[in-house]
Amino acid sequence: MSLSVVILAAGQGTRMKSATPKVLHEISGKPMLFHAIDAAQQLCDDITVVLYHEAARIQKAIETSYNNIKFHTQDVARFPGTGGAMKGVKTLHEKVLILNGDMPLVTTEALSSLIQSDADINMSVIQLTNPSGYGRVAINHGNVLEIIEEKDCSPSQKEIEMVNAGVYCVKQEVLERYIPALQNHNAQKEYYLTDIIKMAVDEGKTVHPVMVAEEEFKGVNSKLDLAHAEAIHQRRIKEAWMKAGVSMRLSETIYIDARATFEGECMLENGVSILGASHIIASHIKAHSVIEDATIKNSDVGPMARIRPDSILSDTHIGNFVEVKKSTLTGVKAGHLSYLGDATIDTGTNIGAGVITCNYDGKKKSQTIIGKNVFVGSDTQLIAPVTIEDDVLIAAGSTITKNVAKGNLAISRTPMETVENFFYRFFKKSPHAD
Ligand code: UD1
Ligand code: CA
Repeated sequence: MSLSVVILAAGQGTRMKSATPKVLHEISGKPMLFHAIDAAQQLCDDITVVLYHEAARIQKAIETSYNNIKFHTQDVARFPGTGGAMKGVKTLHEKVLILNGDMPLVTTEALSSLIQSDADINMSVIQLTNPSGYGRVAINHGNVLEIIEEKDCSPSQKEIEMVNAGVYCVKQEVLERYIPALQNHNAQKEYYLTDIIKMAVDEGKTVHPVMVAEEEFKGVNSKLDLAHAEAIHQRRIKEAWMKAGVSMRLSETIYIDARATFEGECMLENGVSILGASHIIASHIKAHSVIEDATIKNSDVGPMARIRPDSILSDTHIGNFVEVKKSTLTGVKAGHLSYLGDATIDTGTNIGAGVITCNYDGKKKSQTIIGKNVFVGSDTQLIAPVTIEDDVLIAAGSTITKNVAKGNLAISRTPMETVENFFYRFFKKSPHAD
């Protein structure tokens, strides 16, 4: 398929009321523009993104994730509008698919429907009972006549239920003929891309309307739209993973990043968040746990546990209120209330309740290495850097400041004292009083 794609993303997005450019707002952990790029990349290798507002910031964000995207800066001062955005854009192929950067729900299949026919222009059309906000499509006996922007509509044109979804596949030669000829004689004094429809029709070109689903072509213009779009996107992600064999309890309460992956039989309980490019293999994540950019294999985690980036857990049991960060745990049990950061902990080791790796001294982070079959008593603080070799017993309540060699006991406690009958003297009570 000799196809080029142009993604329009120069608009300001003022209705988002945000310091972040509209197209960088995230849906399922990924900027909305990236969803459009991903859908387009399945169809072609020549993608141009048109930018203006916050161009440098958006370009930088794209370049950290993609290396084959071209950029074009719109001359907004002279040529505002979607038609202005297309002025000067250089595409390689015979057909050009034009879409908006704020359409995160568009799929490759949906875009494919627009590149099937050989018409001069294929345009996406949605039928809506409430068409307000969209350009209306005048159609006569199945033939598209023109697109009228809402602000330019007469009262009777406003009644038209067929609207322009904003995606077009246009022959390159057609763009080359009509884009330079666009005028801005309209309510917004803008160069409308939509005007090429009437110009093409007037010269006998073929314009083919393609009915598309509203859900896939929804534009995001506000934070309310963003939330609605994300809910739809989350539903899609979860349905796909459930079909692939992941069990979910109360799936509507679960959040899964677009980059997360699952393998084998996994169970997610209610309220779980799987963030970033987490990889979950044959594991059970219990209620209200948060997993972020971590790998979890043959393990059970939670309820209410937090596994932070760069953690790798295998054959491990993590219980409630345990936080793990940048640590590798293999065959470990940490059942309750612990912080394990910058640690490597080996098979058969038991981490008691309240154990903390003190990995930060106020200046730098240091490592805690714990070997096999170590019993770390409850409420132990491990002052990193520190290494605990295999088969070590650490007494509860110890502060471990030195390495412990294989087979040893480590205990650091203030010796305990008892003062007889102190209670009665202190409160001036007698042992037999009520
Ligand atoms: C546009 C269509 C309208 C259609 C609707 C579908 C035009 C004139 N109107 O209207 O018929 O129903 O989309 O969602 O095309 N952009 C630029 N440069 C600009 C202006 C916009 O790149 O100067 C980009 C925006 O970043 C955005 C896209 O073009 O991604 C659409 O712009 P927007 O202002 O949202 O167009 P609508 O008024 O919604
Ligand atoms: Ca829009």
